[in-house]
Amino acid sequence: MNRRDLLKISGTLFAGSILTQGFAATNTLSTITDTDGTASTDHPLLLHYNENSLGLSPKAKNAIVDVLSNVNRYPDSYIEELQQTIAEAFKMDTKQVTLGVGSSDVIRAVVNQQVYKATQKGQKIQLITPHPSFFLAADHAQGMGIPVVSIPLDTNFCMDITKMKQAADSFDGISIVYLCNPNNPTGTLTSSATIADWVKGANADKNYFMVDEAYAEYITDKNFVSGTSFIREGRDNVIVLRTFSKIFAMAGMRLGYGLSTEKVAKELVPFMAILNISMPTAVAGTASLKDSAFIQQSRAMNSNSLAMTTEAFDALDIKYLPSQGNFLFHQVKCDQKQYIEGMAAEGITIGRPFPPLMQWSRVTLGTPDEMNQFLTVIKKFKKKGWV
Ligand SMILES: Cc1ncc(COP(=O)(O)O)c(C=O)c1O
Repeated sequence: MNRRDLLKISGTLFAGSILTQGFAATNTLSTITDTDGTASTDHPLLLHYNENSLGLSPKAKNAIVDVLSNVNRYPDSYIEELQQTIAEAFKMDTKQVTLGVGSSDVIRAVVNQQVYKATQKGQKIQLITPHPSFFLAADHAQGMGIPVVSIPLDTNFCMDITKMKQAADSFDGISIVYLCNPNNPTGTLTSSATIADWVKGANADKNYFMVDEAYAEYITDKNFVSGTSFIREGRDNVIVLRTFSKIFAMAGMRLGYGLSTEKVAKELVPFMAILNISMPTAVAGTASLKDSAFIQQSRAMNSNSLAMTTEAFDALDIKYLPSQGNFLFHQVKCDQKQYIEGMAAEGITIGRPFPPLMQWSRVTLGTPDEMNQFLTVIKKFKKKGWV
């Protein structure tokens, strides 16, 4: 029996003990983690979705266990507490926080709401996205049947704000502008000042900015200014998206949020499910936000893993982009399929291809131990001429 099977059993025992003995099983839960394994094809290292390899904050785990005895009730007060904790963190009002089942859920709702509003007014609508970038806003817009304008990244692999603005200005309708800062998959930060020039000068009736800051907590660049500054200025054509899936290690819990003016948040209400956040997810979110030690630990781990990976890449003469997220976009010299399959054969799952950047690959920054395993394979690939 391997370690994972043992963990599965301890998880089952844990669930059983909840049913039979109340919720005194905190220690059992804390052992359910898959972060210290060695890569194998049966149990690959998951370095493909930009998750946090540290696992859930200990305080969040305890909060989940503690709340299980209450889940026969609706989660209203727990959701309100989460909204309040988020609002306090951003010095906003709780009414400015839109909670979603992941930030993907808020992205979906924003597109639906904007399309609905434009249709009601008989106006045309399009979505402008950098390319490549996080796909969801564009995919959803396409699914809704509205045109998607993809603007290639500039020569520095940043969002090409000039060209995105041109696409908006030349359209005789509403543009939903998807901005991803730092951008996924490149990890690059686009100048906050350049974005601010556009947002502040834009016609608010024609431009709606969706600013995705999924990786904001990892940013070390002092020049970064969050899009939340636009909300504090009272702009009704901006929403900032944040997630608990990245630094807060809650990808499996599904929790994200939008920050906007109260007016914008109110307009989104009909497009969100009521009481959409479960009690365990709500308490985990609240506890994670308050667990500053865990946030620091996650940031420190990311910095260490980034430093050791970039140092190794420098030594091996492998090009990479400066990353402000928990992943690294690096150059490969072989076919993407060969590279991804080669990594998989070594027990490492890495990011999918991001066309048209077919000579590049994205790896999530896991624990230093995980990065050591990744770098061992990279050294083999270097000898083969694949990187
Ligand atoms: C830029 C960006 N936005 C949003 C998401 C989706 O996050 P969530 O898990 O909150 O839906 C991701 C996921 O990888 C992402 O990279």
